[in-house]
Amino acid sequence: MIVSVIGAGTMGNGIAHVFAQHGFTVNLIDVSAAQLEKAIATIGKNLDRQVSKAAITEEIKNNTLANITTHTGFEGIGNSGLVVEAATENTELKLNIFKQIDAVAPAGCILATNTSSISITKIASVTGRPESVIGMHFMNPVPVMKLVEIINGYATDKKVTETIVALSKQLNKVPCVVNDYPGFIANRILMPMINEAIYSLYEGVAGLEEIDTVMKLGMAHPMGPLQLADFIGLDVCHAILKVLHDGFGNPKYAPCPLLTNMVTAKKLGVKSGEGFYVHT
Ligand code: CAA
Repeated sequence: MIVSVIGAGTMGNGIAHVFAQHGFTVNLIDVSAAQLEKAIATIGKNLDRQVSKAAITEEIKNNTLANITTHTGFEGIGNSGLVVEAATENTELKLNIFKQIDAVAPAGCILATNTSSISITKIASVTGRPESVIGMHFMNPVPVMKLVEIINGYATDKKVTETIVALSKQLNKVPCVVNDYPGFIANRILMPMINEAIYSLYEGVAGLEEIDTVMKLGMAHPMGPLQLADFIGLDVCHAILKVLHDGFGNPKYAPCPLLTNMVTAKKLGVKSGEGFYVHT
């Protein structure tokens, strides 16, 4: 099956990487040629890391890279069985992309989105095929994390869900099917924890290192919540909390004022070089 991945950022290059590594032909699509070049270099680097850990062979690495072609337009979508959209987390942008891919994707092609919180039902509503639209939410770093959160929109066909479950297993991932409500499951539970960690810092209950150490060593989390917030991007955390707040109308989801200030000051975490921590 040919898979088209839209967006060559962190999530898009990871998604292209895993599909290509498992034998799929991948069209990696981005408006920016420079971003595509950077994505291929990142995939190469991550494959090298897997080779050096003996997780894959040099031959698999080369086959993976050979399975990916890059495009700055939607021309490859016409032959695809699956499109996975992984563009920036912006509702208007995603709705616009879905209108365009609906126009060029063949009949029977599944249109999936890697959105972390935007309603699948809303995205599906701008297409002429809402039954073929589904959430396929990978976790960062995609080559490492085992979960694929699969989100059924209001109209998603059961057969489409079954296909995406089977495909996720083919990628050696563990699929979990959930329904389309704000934040789905992953971020409905993760973001209030991160927000509470930020509130704990804001209210002076403890310092940065202490908050992260409590959660790392006390709860066996691989990263503390503030370190994880930097890794995800503080703007992304803020946007997801707003989706939860607006969607449920419950003040418990309101982003901490410290988070809002940091996003306004462009302290976005790893991607901007500074968030709760300084990243070199
Ligand atoms: N590609 C391929 N392999 C990678 C990789 C990448 N991008 N990044 C790390 N790895 C591999 C390493 O090679 C290493 O492999 P081995 O175990 O075989 O040695 C393994 O992953 C661990 O990496 P490191 O030793 O470099 O570093 P680490 O032990 O500190 O782990 C981490 C790094 C995997 C990121 C770990 O800290 C972790 O699991 N953090 C939490 C990640 C998380 O919670 N992700 C979800 C974020 S939420 C999200 O994505 C969704 C959303 O909607 C916001």
